Amino acid sequence: MNLNLGTVTSPPRNEGASVLRAKDCLRAALEQPRRQGLTIGLVPTMGYLHEGHLSLLRAASAECDVVVMSLFVNPAQFGPGEDLERYPRDEERDLRLASEAGVDFVYAPAVEEVYPDGFATVVEISGDLTGVLDGDPARRGPEHFRGVTTVVAKLFNTVAPDVAYFGQKDAQQATVIRRMARDLDFPVRIEVLPTVREPDGLAMSSRNAYLSPEDRRRAAALSRALRTAERTALEETLQAGLAAGQRELAADGIEPEYLEARDADSLQPVAELDGRPVLIAVAARVGAARLIDNVLIRP
Ligand code: PAJ
Repeated sequence: MNLNLGTVTSPPRNEGASVLRAKDCLRAALEQPRRQGLTIGLVPTMGYLHEGHLSLLRAASAECDVVVMSLFVNPAQFGPGEDLERYPRDEERDLRLASEAGVDFVYAPAVEEVYPDGFATVVEISGDLTGVLDGDPARRGPEHFRGVTTVVAKLFNTVAPDVAYFGQKDAQQATVIRRMARDLDFPVRIEVLPTVREPDGLAMSSRNAYLSPEDRRRAAALSRALRTAERTALEETLQAGLAAGQRELAADGIEPEYLEARDADSLQPVAELDGRPVLIAVAARVGAARLIDNVLIRP
């Protein structure tokens, strides 16, 4: 925290993050910095931190006076049969990495703190954004995004951040959250930062932990397919790009759930590059992991 106390020099950061389990304690801890006019940055996470998360935390730490990281594996965004129970967790390591990245407060509530008995409210963005791609009822379904927007709306209310940080890795999630903040007048600036990748191009993800060594090698085909699709789309046509991407996946025996081109803001299908930002998004099961990735083609 960069508390600017008049003429006193700001104390060095990284004294270690404080862990708070109750929203009232978090609110109380943020009261003084807020009154002093310090800026508050929020980075929502489900933990098991990797370089993708750390890039968001470091950006928040560079740009904001106070950084809050939430650490909560949100049951509401997992469907029946999804990986809620086996989702990887390592709170001790997460706290150390968060402290090193400049986090001041880790908000790590229990499920009952977020969803107490009688909890009956949801925040739902319309199906145009949440019923396609991952939100298609045959895939994770719109309920997934309803779980995300509900918990993120609660975090915005609890923390009241000036800025909230999200990753382009989850492009549809970022689009949905931007729309929610705009539609519901949350006074927060949404920052979406680039996808951080392994050296072979695989997008970092907590779920990469599910990959066997052989599947880990095959998983690199997703980012290769996206790069091929982007290059071919720019040189030839979008359709040729998607076809080339499909071939790249097939070469590694990967049948994607989808490999699609969509308008980056409306998430409506696009048939050709027409000067607006176009998202090429892919989802595929590789061994025990369901992986997603995307590339954004800007005009
Ligand atoms: P989680 O998967 O833990 O991701 C937390 C944040 O890190 C998200 O904004 C995500 O897009 C970002 N992120 C993940 N992998 C990344 C990568 N390789 N490069 C850059 N950013 C990356 O997304 C969630 O949690 C949850 O849905 C949440 C928003 C916390 C709501 O529960």
